[in-house]
Amino acid sequence: MAEAMKGLKRTHRCAELAVANVGETVTVMGWVQKQRNKGGIIFVDLRDRSGLLQIIFEESDVLAEGFAKAEKLRSEFVIAVVGTVEKRAGGINENLKTGEIEIRAKEIRILSEAETPPFPIEEDSKTKEELRLKYRYLDLRRPDLQRNLMLRSKITTTIRAFLAEEGFLEIETPILGKSTPEGARDYLVPSRVHPGTFYGLPQSPQLFKQLLMCSGYDRYFQIAKCFRDEDLRADRQPEFTQVDMELSFVDVDDVIEVNERLLKKVCKDAIGLDITLPIPRMTWQEAMDRFGSDKPDTRFDMELVDVSETVAGCGFGVFTGALENGGSVRGINAKGQGEMPRKKIDALVEFAKGFGAKGLAYLSILPDGSYKSSFAKFMTEEQLDALVKKMEGEPGDLLLFAADKNVVVWDVLGNLRLEVAKQMGIIDESKFNFLWVTEFPLLEWNEEANRFVAKHHPFTMPMDEDLQYLDSDPGRVRAKAYDIILNGTELGGGSVRIFQSDVQEKMFEVLGFEKEDAYERFGFLLNAFKYGVPPHAGLAYGLDRLVMLLVKADSIREVIAFPKVKDASCIMTDAPNVVDQVQLDELELALNLKEKEETEE
Ligand code: AMO
Ligand code: AMP
Repeated sequence: MAEAMKGLKRTHRCAELAVANVGETVTVMGWVQKQRNKGGIIFVDLRDRSGLLQIIFEESDVLAEGFAKAEKLRSEFVIAVVGTVEKRAGGINENLKTGEIEIRAKEIRILSEAETPPFPIEEDSKTKEELRLKYRYLDLRRPDLQRNLMLRSKITTTIRAFLAEEGFLEIETPILGKSTPEGARDYLVPSRVHPGTFYGLPQSPQLFKQLLMCSGYDRYFQIAKCFRDEDLRADRQPEFTQVDMELSFVDVDDVIEVNERLLKKVCKDAIGLDITLPIPRMTWQEAMDRFGSDKPDTRFDMELVDVSETVAGCGFGVFTGALENGGSVRGINAKGQGEMPRKKIDALVEFAKGFGAKGLAYLSILPDGSYKSSFAKFMTEEQLDALVKKMEGEPGDLLLFAADKNVVVWDVLGNLRLEVAKQMGIIDESKFNFLWVTEFPLLEWNEEANRFVAKHHPFTMPMDEDLQYLDSDPGRVRAKAYDIILNGTELGGGSVRIFQSDVQEKMFEVLGFEKEDAYERFGFLLNAFKYGVPPHAGLAYGLDRLVMLLVKADSIREVIAFPKVKDASCIMTDAPNVVDQVQLDELELALNLKEKEETEE
């Protein structure tokens, strides 16, 4: 095998060949997809990352003992073939990019043999994901994953080129950093040299990129690995990649402007999609009121309607009670779902309860215009009519209502809206609806901690006109923060930063940090602000999410070469793993393991 490549040089990838190459002698290399022996003539589908190519081996003087080799071939053998490109004798294969041609082999070399893989290497695999992830190196041979990763590479190339052209500098920031948890949990790395101390892996390069602005690098970007120890979902991984950027001497509109052009370029280059600029914008308040979500999916309507005024003073205690407690009553109109069977409605009630609803009130408008409702008995005919009118209800519609505190009502109806739309099949999957959500609240009340926490992060600048309320009424302060949403997924987010140390200190105060504590944790940033700092702002995209949405994958695992599963482990390598006592001793660490609960579902 040492001489495997001697005298051989690949001339083309398989699917790079076409009718234009007919008559040429070429050398191709790759994996055997399939071998069919027709006696005296053998067909092999050869695969590499570009696609498939048919090779034909005919028993002849030219091929000599090569024919015996071709007889031996099995799936996933790696071979090199020298041959001539010919028009297909046996008719065109429309399903194949190289369907008009084939290679007549003159010479074959088997570069390596293969055992039978544990699952077929094919498009749209039916194999369980767990098995695919255990043999990820085989899974990654499948054409869909290869296309995803090739597109991901193309996207990062486009991003790098665009940002370089716009004067951004690519600068790396440390992975071993200081643990400053705020938001998600940090991953920790024990220090050997300083026993008992730990590095924190970065949740994002946030502080370093702000320091780079202090140092005058005025436009920075990085394709940065980030680490967050949080519960995983389909669009979350414990380590993921951000396209991270920061700009000096700018305000909200400047960041949005350059990013819109970036998105336009990426969409065009990656999938040939033309997006119209400017991308629509919506304030957070409007997004919540209309869609019950700060990442609205605007591909369909079914918007929330506030019926608080309409039901005020009605006889239904659930509604009036919520209003008395400062909450609201809102509804959605599931058009044409008026005849949804009771069982399905009950399932929606359970779904709503999963988001904290105490219940879900419904009203079906039957084809004859009469109502069937869970609360009809508590209301007069006129009150019901007024409610239906407010909801623009027509015969055949199903109206669903939630009554509670605003945050609960939004969350319940926002999620219900998506669920019902999915069930109804009204989401146009061919659409790419981008949306900026702006003017987020600066702070969010955290019941558990009994204090405000930063909605984005503690370095986000309040809106100029709201700065005055930071002391007196922190909850009403809006931030110069913005998220970019695509089809209901948060693709990225950012903000204008606080750049005055007094405002930053005040912000920490509102968040409940003692001044010393704030300096202990973020002193390097607060000090940096004392030596001349430009106004600055930035944004970070989740690259995995961007690629996932552009290739229409169901999960970010489909666009990450070696992803982790739900419990943050890697099925292929078995990470995380137990380490030697020697390693622990060096770190002066002792384990203090809790007994495992046996209540796994
Ligand atoms: P934020 O926390 O909003 O902002 O993160 C930016 C984007 O990163 C993606 N993302 C994730 N992707 C996969 N798995 C995860 N666990 C995960 N968590 C986040 C999302 C998100 O929109 N430093 C700020 C940005 C800034 O202000 O400039 C930040 O990290 O797509
Ligand atoms: P009850 O009188 O508790 O049987 O409730 C009557 C109807 O109101 C039922 O359909 C409940 O599901 C619904 N309901 C209860 N709590 C709420 C709520 N917070 N918001 C909307 N509907 C509710």
